[in-house]
Amino acid sequence: MGEIIDGKILSMQIKDELKVRNAEFEKKFGRKIKLAVVLVGENPASKVYVRNKIKSAEYIGIESLSFYLPEDAEEDEVLKLVKTLADDSSVDAILVQLPLPAHISEEKVLDIIPVEKDVDGFSDRNVGKLTLGKECIAACTPEGIIELLKSKNIELTEKNAVVIGRSNIVGKPIALLLLRENCTVTVCHSKTVGLKEICKEADIIVAAIGKPEFVKADMVKEGAVVIDVGINRTENGLKGDVDFLSVRDKASFITPVPGGVGPMTIAMLMKNAILCAERRESRNGL
Ligand code: GUN
Repeated sequence: MGEIIDGKILSMQIKDELKVRNAEFEKKFGRKIKLAVVLVGENPASKVYVRNKIKSAEYIGIESLSFYLPEDAEEDEVLKLVKTLADDSSVDAILVQLPLPAHISEEKVLDIIPVEKDVDGFSDRNVGKLTLGKECIAACTPEGIIELLKSKNIELTEKNAVVIGRSNIVGKPIALLLLRENCTVTVCHSKTVGLKEICKEADIIVAAIGKPEFVKADMVKEGAVVIDVGINRTENGLKGDVDFLSVRDKASFITPVPGGVGPMTIAMLMKNAILCAERRESRNGL
């Protein structure tokens, strides 16, 4: 039976380290790090995420400014708010929780966030740097996945990694990070032919498709490492993208839902907020 990789414990350890790093920042620069959080609408999952992000910021000592706009907020209103935060020199980092309501262009909103305040790594510049293998802020969930793998000393070089899902938030950036770690990466999606056979060749599976219990035991090779990014609210409660109980029997390592990837996303967000502030101070010092 596979070992569970506990993202809750690891994220707490990381947050405790970040607390120390944040205190050092405050002592050195005589100010608090400021993270602006924007939530538009009433998406219940987004509300929970945002609440947890603000709680974690508080725990570490990062000041958070939260902005809640109604579901029917005009696109211009959101753009104006983000532009104000972009121009506000007291703000180190900006987070706009996705998804936005359908009538608001995510592209337009994300384009206004300056690269140096892009705590989520969603801007064109950060994605470009990630693609080119340059130092950058990468999306938080993929970064959290790499931390989970490294925490168990899981060898990545030469391994076959299969990513299921091609979203900008998870699938594409985790594929690039695994490539950086010398994995041979295959990205599968809804139009992939022979998904099961491809998955069976994988040493590492990252499931990020948003379909409850989609990955079954017969898709998994004995001893594979299985990372479950899914958070699906079903009639039977919260379910990941992996059929946990049956897949656990075959896997060497597996992440649970909840308590796997989710808490790591938040820990990485906090790390990125501190990075944005540290880099800003080092630019100011030049
Ligand atoms: N929605 C789902 N995941 C994320 C994330 O990591 N950041 C933001 N801003 N929105 C999300």
